[in-house]
Amino acid sequence: VEANAAWAEEVRRLAKQRDAVLLAHNYQVPEIQDIADHTGDSLALSRIAASSDASTIVFCGVHFMAETAKILSPEKTVLIPDARAGCSLADSITGEQLRAWKAEHPGAVVVSYVNTTAEVKAETDICCTSSNAVDVVASIPADQEVLFLPDQFLGAHVKRVTGRENMHVWAGECHVHAGINGAELAARAAEDPDADLFIHPECGCATSALYLAGEGAVAPERVKILSTGDMVHEARDTRAKSVLVATEIGMIHQLRKAAPGIEFRAVNDRASCRYMKMITPAALLRCLREGLDEVHVDAGTAARARASVQRMIEIGQ
Ligand code: 13P
Ligand code: SF4
Repeated sequence: VEANAAWAEEVRRLAKQRDAVLLAHNYQVPEIQDIADHTGDSLALSRIAASSDASTIVFCGVHFMAETAKILSPEKTVLIPDARAGCSLADSITGEQLRAWKAEHPGAVVVSYVNTTAEVKAETDICCTSSNAVDVVASIPADQEVLFLPDQFLGAHVKRVTGRENMHVWAGECHVHAGINGAELAARAAEDPDADLFIHPECGCATSALYLAGEGAVAPERVKILSTGDMVHEARDTRAKSVLVATEIGMIHQLRKAAPGIEFRAVNDRASCRYMKMITPAALLRCLREGLDEVHVDAGTAARARASVQRMIEIGQ
């Protein structure tokens, strides 16, 4: 406890000295979530990064998130405690692959999930996150073809909700969420018939016919497909006494804080993102002491990516 208090004090002191705002994604380890000025989902953190007065942003999350902050605020110093914190989903499409895909569908509107590199964002018309993907796709005139990337499960979810036929979906996935499957979820739900199910749309189970059809063990009204930020809002609103959570396990900490009276359980407690967990308390301290790792985005790429990211933070406000 004492060591933790000394660490927290030093982090706060150094953050003040650097005029830094500390942002943490909901999948970060509990100590990092608790010390941050703001903890939230990708969209909320992007909005805060864009509007903050601080001259430095310390992004406790993965690299594409820090890059997005830099694209929105090129004049600010953006730091990430460990630049090796990547994302398997962002790695599932390159700028070159996207250019080739666009060439096959001239005139299509390109919608990219925020889990992409700056190079891919520079080839994109509108970015989205899991919390506004449906609104973003719905904002595109119905007669225009859409290329949606890179997540196949989020893409399938958006397609189902919007009923859009002229939407092509890239076959990428996040290794953590793809591993949370429908059979496992249905088995857990059957054991706990009164629990709500909070499911992140990146999950392999998010489109599972096992419960979406209303057949089998799970009543459709128990199923809530939510971004990590919307899980926190729903936790405050639901009347359920227990909730099964299908997403990265870091989420459970924030949910317990938001609704201490509810029992939250992970559908798959091995669903841990090794990239998110690279941001350790020691790494955050080093980052603040040494001003490392600094995130740079080439000015030309950032300029081409900015409009798509700005549209993302404006839609669904
Ligand atoms: P959200 O926090 O936007 O729901 O994103 C989840 C995710 O996988 C980020 O890496
Ligand atoms: Fe990427 Fe998946 Fe980790 Fe999120 S949980 S950062 S999508 S690898």
